[in-house]
Amino acid sequence: MTFKLKSAVLAAIAPIALMASAQAATITISCGSVGQDFEFCKKHTSEWAAKTGNEVKLFTIPNSTTDILALFRQMFAAKSTDLDVINVDVVWPGVIKDHLVDLSKYSNGAEKNHFPAIVKNNTVDGKLLAMPWFTDAGLLYYRKDLLAKYNAKAPATWEELAVVAKKIQDGERAAGNNDFQGFVFQAKAYEGLTCDAVEWLTSYNGGNIVDADGKITVNNPGAVKALKTAASWVGTIAPQGVLNYAEEEARGVFQNGNAAFMRNWPYAWSLGNGKDSKIAGKIGVSALPKGGADGKNAATLGGWQLAVSKYSKNQEAAASLVMYMTSPEVQKERAIKGSYNPTIASLYTDKDVLAANPFFGSL
Ligand code: GLC
Repeated sequence: MTFKLKSAVLAAIAPIALMASAQAATITISCGSVGQDFEFCKKHTSEWAAKTGNEVKLFTIPNSTTDILALFRQMFAAKSTDLDVINVDVVWPGVIKDHLVDLSKYSNGAEKNHFPAIVKNNTVDGKLLAMPWFTDAGLLYYRKDLLAKYNAKAPATWEELAVVAKKIQDGERAAGNNDFQGFVFQAKAYEGLTCDAVEWLTSYNGGNIVDADGKITVNNPGAVKALKTAASWVGTIAPQGVLNYAEEEARGVFQNGNAAFMRNWPYAWSLGNGKDSKIAGKIGVSALPKGGADGKNAATLGGWQLAVSKYSKNQEAAASLVMYMTSPEVQKERAIKGSYNPTIASLYTDKDVLAANPFFGSL
């Protein structure tokens, strides 16, 4: 009887198992390679693979968003089927719109839970081309312990930052750390420098580079002051080498205890307070300084989405992976363990998320 029951069950299951294996897809995804991008990608894609019976391969991409875009455009031009799911920078949807699948038929309306502005940004010609994954804003990181040691406050203006950075740099170098820097940021020629520069311009009331009507407006006194000020940091409070720094180079110097201030994105918070960080517990975060007393605090809005390539041979499974990766559960874990800013408004009042990232509430 037991045997009969077993074989009946087996007979019933076998076709389903066969069906599942016939349909199992291998999805290749690129998630990013800055900070903890790769580790999180591995964890969450494996979870999805285990739930669905599909397989996932991780595709390694360069660090610089400028280089990633060049690579993807090359692959799209070749109609490459090598990538199913790609990470999409907030400024790209319009640029790569012809190569992405409309996700609205797979999303079941999940986009309604995400910030409307990001969903709008990802919707081109009425098509939802990418699901919001995390958002980003430029922040000023500082060493609380060093500000206390040098009897200084977190700076409200770039002018104050330069003075305090110099004081701490001189003091720390005199105390024997010749590598110590006042301020590190992103000044390599790539999208990251554009993000930093837009913050400087705005902070000095330098306006936009191009205004809403398409007029070029960057040639104005505020913008001149902003750029002259930033240029004056190189070789004084920042190393000459900052001209070759992206996010990770700046983080490396700061996290090793060799800088007083750093401009970076929220992801640096969790790593800076991690087990192997020399400055865990010593970091403060604030809005980026104003350009002088009449300036304003400005932060570039960055962020990443996930999208399905039109050349993918497994678009449905790829879309299912995108929906899992951008879900509230995954975004919550990434926020708590990686300080990636969620794109789902309700997570900003979640007490675990706020406990891990005290500055999220004000962001
Ligand atoms: C971050 C931002 C992204 C920006 C990039 C610049 O990854 O999220 O939007 O383009 O930095 O380096």
